[in-house]
Amino acid sequence: MTLILEGTSENIRKAASRLKSGELAAFPTETVYGLGADATNDKAVASIFAAKSRPVFNPIIVHFTDIEKVKKAVVFNDKAEVLAKAFWPGPLTLILPRRKDTNISLLCSAGLSTLAVRCPSHPVARQLIKTLGKPIAAPSANKSGSLSPTTPQHVLKSLGEKVELILAGGRASVGLESTVVDMTDAEPVLLRPGIVTLEDLRLHIGEVRVETKATNDHPKSPGQLLKHYAPKTPLRLRAVNAKPGEALLAFGTIRFIADGALLNLSERGDLNEAAANLFSMLHQFDSEGHKSIAVMNIPNTGLGMAINDRLRRAAGAQQQKKN
Ligand code: TXA
Ligand code: MG
Repeated sequence: MTLILEGTSENIRKAASRLKSGELAAFPTETVYGLGADATNDKAVASIFAAKSRPVFNPIIVHFTDIEKVKKAVVFNDKAEVLAKAFWPGPLTLILPRRKDTNISLLCSAGLSTLAVRCPSHPVARQLIKTLGKPIAAPSANKSGSLSPTTPQHVLKSLGEKVELILAGGRASVGLESTVVDMTDAEPVLLRPGIVTLEDLRLHIGEVRVETKATNDHPKSPGQLLKHYAPKTPLRLRAVNAKPGEALLAFGTIRFIADGALLNLSERGDLNEAAANLFSMLHQFDSEGHKSIAVMNIPNTGLGMAINDRLRRAAGAQQQKKN
């Protein structure tokens, strides 16, 4: 039986003691729910891969309370420092070289010489890391290749008995996974767009290259190779109408009539609101058994870049499944 427990101090202590004994616990972050393990325990980190059916070459983000702790695990540089000061705690992940003497499990790096690190801002996540007294390795708490969870119920639906304890901390406020930036070269590379936008990054550190698609056989972010964020129902992007049997995922003012199911990411055309709603609306349509989901056009500026990235991956993954 999987327990969903409110993120009270007492329940956070229960979750921390599970993590301490090498077991897993799901917990809320401001981006999406994570499936956590003690990042210094090889066996525990290995069981994350098993629970998610995650390919072993896909590395895992490690979560800390503050930059001083992060510095014990990775080697910082000036630009990384600027970004950390500007956006932590918050929805930004930095890829940096591992320190040789770190006790973080090598499995988190999946064979790379780097480590993905972030300090989440959600109070339950922070309290959990603090109570454990160690960093927490955590990918999104869903089966590999499916939609990320923004509620405890999404976690339960995707992982079921694979996770025995889910700490609840409301609906994830951001709703999209963190922005991932590779800081290992002189020129930083945006690997996964998120609520910390390309414009935000450039404002702080100057030029940032964008590499969000698998452009070769050795992408900087192994996760880019995978089918990602895919609902089971086919997606049709940039729709200007809804066909019979199709559910409509709208954005802004709807200029055409939809007879079937309809959800609006943001009636007032607000990208933050749309990002927060995206996965939960896709989860909902997915559970209703529609023939397909027609998605209206989303502007590709600011946070729209991250939303479109997730939509393209979802639609692209289905293309791959058909082939
Ligand atoms: O918002 C988030 O980032 C959530 C919450 C739980 O923190 N976590 C999350 O983790 O989305 P995950 O595993 O679902 O996605 C992490 C992405 C993957 O695409 C992975 O390949 C990439 O980050 N990644 C992790 N470590 C990396 C590394 N050392 N080098 C390059 N990419 C890395
Ligand atoms: Mg994920």
